[in-house]
Amino acid sequence: MRKFVTTTAIAAVMVALGAGVSARAAENVEVLHWWTSGGEAAALDVLKKDLESKGITWTDMPVAGGGGTEAMTVLRARVTAGNAPTAVQMLGFDILDWAKEGALGNLDEVASKEGWDKVVPGALQQFSKYDGHWIAAPVNVHSTNWVWINKAALDKAGGKEPQNWDELIALLDNFKAQGITPVAHGGQPWQDATIFDAVVLSLGNDFYKKAFIDLDPETLGSDQMKEAFDRMTKLRSYVDDNFSGRDWNLASAMVIEDKAGLQFMGDWAKGEFLKAGKKPGTDFVCMRFPGTQGSVTFNSDQFAMFKVADDKVPAQLAMASAIESPVFQSAFNVVKGSVPARTDVPDTDFDDCGKKGIKDLAEANASGTLYGSMAHGHANPAAVKNAIYDVVTRQFNGELSSEEATKELVAAVEGAK
Ligand code: GAL
Repeated sequence: MRKFVTTTAIAAVMVALGAGVSARAAENVEVLHWWTSGGEAAALDVLKKDLESKGITWTDMPVAGGGGTEAMTVLRARVTAGNAPTAVQMLGFDILDWAKEGALGNLDEVASKEGWDKVVPGALQQFSKYDGHWIAAPVNVHSTNWVWINKAALDKAGGKEPQNWDELIALLDNFKAQGITPVAHGGQPWQDATIFDAVVLSLGNDFYKKAFIDLDPETLGSDQMKEAFDRMTKLRSYVDDNFSGRDWNLASAMVIEDKAGLQFMGDWAKGEFLKAGKKPGTDFVCMRFPGTQGSVTFNSDQFAMFKVADDKVPAQLAMASAIESPVFQSAFNVVKGSVPARTDVPDTDFDDCGKKGIKDLAEANASGTLYGSMAHGHANPAAVKNAIYDVVTRQFNGELSSEEATKELVAAVEGAK
């Protein structure tokens, strides 16, 4: 008898364990992302650990390549094979493209329970919602019109932050005279386009809006656009010989290691400086690209949630809820270099660059000078973005004159619209 009870008890425990295991197996998220640099991985770890503390395991699907071009190619293959990941790091118009295809799930239950409508800025909601339904959970707000300057090199040059184009050029000349590479850059289309975002914005808010948001052919083909390309040619003269194909974080490392004067890059670059133990104001300086003070070209990383089997939905919703928690938003963005995707997160834990980022975003939003980043998929769908990338990169590499590039830009955008 005793033996029988024991056996039954063991069997019961086995069943219970089995059920537990299968319940736990469902508490798993497979996440496709391109956060593979040191700073990015450190930020991602905040999310992984947060989910682990809630009993959700993480299956990692990293696809290296800044800006996410390669990740989007891999995603297409996965979905075509009928095997969509649970959650995918995604930018702006790409989210809407997938929503249009009917591939995304629905986060309304958790969004309405937690009141996301009231705290997520409208500029992000236009990409987190489709047809009135929440389809993605915004993690952060980055912006592309930043400059990251080596503080020692800036001090040697007199310590003054350049306020306009001429002062920027004077600073780059000074860096050259110091014997360092003036501009740390990686020659990849998305990095060239990131600089182009800032250069176009520096020629005027209206110019940026008409060119990249409205895609106005007259503006795209204007003398001002030729001037933007001329400025790209000028900046190109300050990069080193080995810039071609270099990853963005290796360019950040050149500034970190005193080999280069500055990098034009979105605020994910700050994540690299922090990871290397560098302090803003002491080791490096963050400032808006000269001539773009008061304006912000933003991009927001969101986790687009794909349609998955019913038993995987609870983990997916739990992940979305975890991402939108104010405590997580602060912890993650402090490491990532971005700012929170909610308006109610205190800036207490952020360094001076983060505090500036939060303030700049709020001010630009209030004054109507907040624009979606062309380079990072928040101004146009991928087809148009890639058409612009192509022209910008060919011009940057000397294959097109400024005049030719201006003409090609009009034609390329027209063809991709
Ligand atoms: C951006 C993304 C950032 C950062 C960067 C470089 O598109 O929004 O989070 O990862 O690419 O990889």
